[in-house]
Amino acid sequence: QGAQLVDPFGREIEYLRVSVTDRCDFRCVYCMSEHMTFLPKRDLLSLEELDVLCSAFVRRGVKKLRITGGEPLVRKNIMWLFEALGRHLESGDLKELTLTTNGSQLEKYAGELKAAGVERINVSIDTIDPDKFKAITRWGNLATVMRGLDAAEKAGIKIKINAVALKGVNEDEIPDLVRFAHGRGADITLIETMPLGDIGEDRTAQYLPLSVVRARLMDHFTLQESPYRTGGPARYVKVEETGGRLGFITPLTHNFCESCNRVRLTCTGTLYMCLGQNDAADLRAPLRASEDPALLDAAITEAIARKPKGHDFIIDRRTKTPSLARHMSVTGG
Ligand code: GTP
Ligand code: 5AD
Ligand code: SF4
Repeated sequence: QGAQLVDPFGREIEYLRVSVTDRCDFRCVYCMSEHMTFLPKRDLLSLEELDVLCSAFVRRGVKKLRITGGEPLVRKNIMWLFEALGRHLESGDLKELTLTTNGSQLEKYAGELKAAGVERINVSIDTIDPDKFKAITRWGNLATVMRGLDAAEKAGIKIKINAVALKGVNEDEIPDLVRFAHGRGADITLIETMPLGDIGEDRTAQYLPLSVVRARLMDHFTLQESPYRTGGPARYVKVEETGGRLGFITPLTHNFCESCNRVRLTCTGTLYMCLGQNDAADLRAPLRASEDPALLDAAITEAIARKPKGHDFIIDRRTKTPSLARHMSVTGG
């Protein structure tokens, strides 16, 4: 067991988000442009290498692993990685192995995910209107995702729905989305769109502050503050009328960097210490240089010592270009 990871601001790093592929079978309008280019496959780390990297973090006290993408379930053989990482759950070193997915392949994989030890997943559903779903995801199909939700539920996996709040797109539908999620016994979190990567249009047109959404929701529901936390950035309320939990992820209106406990690993072995900063550490070179984990361990220690205080995302009419050129699908959010 190596030394625990603590950053210069005293924050303990217990949560690793791993983007296993930058590819996706959707093209959500707030995430990428229609003609997104992806990394050549030869640049990807193998699943075995990703396992070695994740395991190095688990040895250093990481308790929560979230597999993301792109769309993680489009990566070939991905269940091998879930099964490999599941051994850390059995040993008790890891508390949670989870997944963030667009749901397109969930029907196929739900049973295997549960068997590997995945108890809880986050599924992105920004609208429950089939036509709007097509318009937002460009390539997605709502009925397929709904079958995925059913399969996950049947497998006994707890679901959280993620919905990015989009001005003029799903803003009128948010109370219905809350009722939909809670009606299925799922939690829901609303997310402010973050200026990451070129999407081929002006993000100010999409941006809807959650402070506005929350005020409007109070015309529909009674919201009670809830102490519930998952280790992620969402702050939750309980909706009295439905009995369900509603979370708000507000990087722009109410930044949560102070309690940040996470870092992000990409499918090429780059470690980003913050979603909203460019600084990164290469873990692929030390990984490949030697079988001895000491080199990799030292690189991880050095990276955590550089974790910045926070992001500086802004969405503003004057700066139409994104704060960062990198897309969310590279770091998995
Ligand atoms: P749980 O709390 O475990 O359910 O996970 P989560 O909600 O953090 O994970 P998910 O993958 O569902 O991400 C939801 C949204 O939160 C995505 O838009 C992420 O980009 C965003 N998010 C997660 N961590 C951070 C963070 O450190 N900074 C910022 N700005 N956004 C984050
Ligand atoms: N801003 C906010 N959320 C985003 N997501 C993808 N791109 C962005 C963005 N630019 C969401 C997805 C998914 C989660 C991982 O992040 O919808 O639910
Ligand atoms: Fe794919 Fe997720 Fe980006 Fe949509 S938000 S295009 S589902 S990576």
